Amino acid sequence: MSASTPSNIKEHYDTLKAQGLKLNMQRGQPSDADFNLSNGLLNILGPDDYRAGSLDLRNYPGGVQGIPEARAMFGEYLSVAADQVIVWNNASLELQAFVLTTALLHGLRGSDTPWVRLTLNNQPVKPKIIVTTPGYDRHFLLLETLGFEVVAVDMQDDGPDLDTIERLASTDPLVKGVLFVPTYSNPGGESISPEKARRLAGLQALASDFTLFADDAYRVHHLYSEGQHRPVNLVALCAEAGYHDRAYVFASTSKITFAGAGLGFLASSEANVQHLSKYLNAQSIGPNKVEQHRHVKFLQQYPGGLKGLMKDHAALLAPKFAAVSEVLRQELGDSGEYATWKAPRGGYFVSLDTTEPVAARVVELAEQAGVSLTPAGATYPSGKDPHNRNIRLSPSRPPEAEVRQAMQVVAAAIKLATQEYREGRS
Ligand SMILES: Cc1ncc(COP(=O)(O)O)c(C=O)c1O
Repeated sequence: MSASTPSNIKEHYDTLKAQGLKLNMQRGQPSDADFNLSNGLLNILGPDDYRAGSLDLRNYPGGVQGIPEARAMFGEYLSVAADQVIVWNNASLELQAFVLTTALLHGLRGSDTPWVRLTLNNQPVKPKIIVTTPGYDRHFLLLETLGFEVVAVDMQDDGPDLDTIERLASTDPLVKGVLFVPTYSNPGGESISPEKARRLAGLQALASDFTLFADDAYRVHHLYSEGQHRPVNLVALCAEAGYHDRAYVFASTSKITFAGAGLGFLASSEANVQHLSKYLNAQSIGPNKVEQHRHVKFLQQYPGGLKGLMKDHAALLAPKFAAVSEVLRQELGDSGEYATWKAPRGGYFVSLDTTEPVAARVVELAEQAGVSLTPAGATYPSGKDPHNRNIRLSPSRPPEAEVRQAMQVVAAAIKLATQEYREGRS
C-alpha cells in the first residue's frame, strides 16, 4: 500500500483526475470479446433451418412453452424435465415480471386470492416480497413498479439470512415469497448452500402460496475451473419437501450468447407451467421459434458445448476480476482501514463496502475523475443504502488495462472520501 498522508492522498487523486479518463464500470455488460464468441449465431442457420423436427418454425403453431428441443436443452441446464420448462424470448426479467404479474392479477397455484386483492381488516394491503441486500437494482425496480412492498434481508456468505426469512414468513401472511439470486449473486457473488436451500424449500410459511422466485442468472458463470459452486435444484428440493409448486427458477442466455438477443427461460413444476401457459396464451401465440432453434443449434455445435463456451468466457473475465482485487489490495491494503470487498468465484460483479459511510462521495469523486460507477445506493431497495457503504463494481465490459486504470481511480476516491469524512469528524 502506498504511504498515505492527507496531502498525498489528495495529490494522488488530482493526478489521476488530470489524466482526463473516460471509463465506464457501471453496468454488468459482456465485453465485445465475449460477444464475439457467439458470432457464430449470426450465420449458423441454413436454408433448411425453418424446421425443427416436424415443427415449421415460420408458422404460428408450436405453443407458448417453447420448441421441444429448446425446452429439453434448457431443462437440462436447470436440471428439470423438458415439461417443466418455458423457453421464451430475450430477457429473463420479462418472465419474472410475467410470473409476478400473474400472481397479482390471478394468483399462483395455491393462492386463495389474486395478490392484488389482499385485504387486512377489510382494507386493501400490498403483498410483500423479501429480497436480499445488497442486491440487484432491477429486482427492486420491478417489485416496486408492480406495487409490492419490498422487505430487505441480508445476503450472507452462504445465501439469504434464513433466520429472518423464516421469522417473517411464519408470522406475516402478507409475505408471499423471496426473490433472490441463488448462484454467484449480484453483486456479492454469494451462492446459497445446499443446507439453506433445503431449509428454504421446506420453510413453513403462513401464506399457502409462499413462493421462491430464484433468478439463477449466473448458474454456470464460474470464473475458475477449481472450486466451482454446484448449483442447487430448488424445484426438486421444494417437491421433496412437499411444496411441489413453490419454486420458479429463471435464467437466460444474456451472459452466455448475446445480452440483447438471447433467450429467457424458467423452470417450475409441470402444473405451474400449465397454469402459466393459460395466461401466456392469452397474450401471445408464442415466442420467436427461429431464435430458439438458432440457439440450440449454436450451443450444440460450440466446441465443448455450453461448458466450452463458459470456459472461454471465464478466460476473458477472470483476469479482469483479478485486476480489481490486485489494485484494491495494492492501493488500500488488507486491513479494512478503507474498505473490504468480496472475491467472487463466479458471476459478474465485485461488491465493495467502504469502512466509513462514504459510498455516495466515492462514486461522485470517481465520476469527477472520469470513471462512471453504479450509483451508490443502487444495491438497496428504492436506491437507498441505509449505511451508505456499498458499491457495485462491474469489471466485465472494459478491457483489463482499463479495469486497472479505473480501479486506481476508485481506490484513490475511496481514500480521499474516507479522509474527508474522518477530518470532518475530528
Ligand atoms: C441477477 C440478474 N438477473 C437478471 C439479469 C438480466 O437478465 P436478462 O437479460 O435475462 O433479463 C441480470 C443482469 O445483470 C442480473 O444480474
